[in-house]
Amino acid sequence: MNILITGGTGFIGTPLTQRLLANNHNVTVWCRNPSRVVPGATAVTSLEDVADAPIDAVINLAGAGIADQRWSPSRKALIRDSRIGLTDTLGAWLAARETPPSVFISGSAIGFYGLQPGDDPITESESGDSSFSSTLCQDWEAAATRACPESTRLCLLRTGIVLGDGGALAKMRTPFSLGLGGPVGSGQQWMPWIHIDDMIALIVHLLDDERATGPVNATAPTPVTSAEFAAALGRALKRPAVLPMPALAVKALFGQMGEELLLSGRRVLPATATALGFPFQFTTLEPALADLCSR
Ligand SMILES: NC(=O)c1ccc[n+]([C@@H]2O[C@H](COP(=O)([O-])OP(=O)(O)OC[C@H]3O[C@@H](n4cnc5c(N)ncnc54)[C@H](OP(=O)(O)O)[C@@H]3O)[C@@H](O)[C@H]2O)c1
Repeated sequence: MNILITGGTGFIGTPLTQRLLANNHNVTVWCRNPSRVVPGATAVTSLEDVADAPIDAVINLAGAGIADQRWSPSRKALIRDSRIGLTDTLGAWLAARETPPSVFISGSAIGFYGLQPGDDPITESESGDSSFSSTLCQDWEAAATRACPESTRLCLLRTGIVLGDGGALAKMRTPFSLGLGGPVGSGQQWMPWIHIDDMIALIVHLLDDERATGPVNATAPTPVTSAEFAAALGRALKRPAVLPMPALAVKALFGQMGEELLLSGRRVLPATATALGFPFQFTTLEPALADLCSR
């Protein structure tokens, strides 16, 4: 397949590009900085450079980091434009092509499901709310739907917390390694997670499985609460994980970003991936953390 990726230099995009190249696909990465693109892939800084190239699949992962800093008005605008604006640009390019790709896989997140507390299982049929993270995902998915040609299969990846060598786990590892980790807020909010290897394998699966369409929760079948996550990470690192981070401190340090991403979380289940028979390698957290902490 000839595959175009945005966000191909990121935490998910880099190992995804490596996997696709290993599977003998031709990969083109539309990016801002070609020096960060995996060797073997073609880097382009403008879609004009691929105007005439055959493209069978598009994977759209680009976006400014959501959890990198507090959500000032200008940061919120960048987070939105780097996803929705970029996806609209992709849509204009797709609309001008004579031969549309067969599949378009576009990013979203479990933030789609909003902030309501509770333990009800959440599957792909659930709707969102008016929080920043939910409207971001709703508008990003709407942009992808607009961008997707009629004959192209569209999958929307509602991704949970990806655990790998980087990302959220890297940020948590230092305080936990120092024995300073623990549950966040009440500890009762859910933290749907997915091992990076399953994340990559799921995207590869969605490329090939013609039954796959619409939203797909990219989360492991066994989500945990923040308290359960802290205890498991403490065990994996052989450190105590009993120092809670109070909600007041989270709000003071991280503002709205902390309230939405750290103090809220819903019990998201991968109903679509399960129905498709996707074989998760890591279904429960302990083996996933044991694997990653030993790497
Ligand atoms: N990692 C997670 O736990 C997680 C969870 C839920 C959803 N997601 C979503 O999945 C996608 C990929 O995640 P990731 O962790 O791989 O992200 P990442 O490491 O932050 O990489 C995102 C990529 O987006 C591009 N980018 C960054 N800022 C940009 C900007 N201002 N304008 C245009 N492009 C920009 C960069 O590519 P270039 O520098 O090459 O242009 C970067 O490689 C993201 O959209 C993220 O929101 C991730």
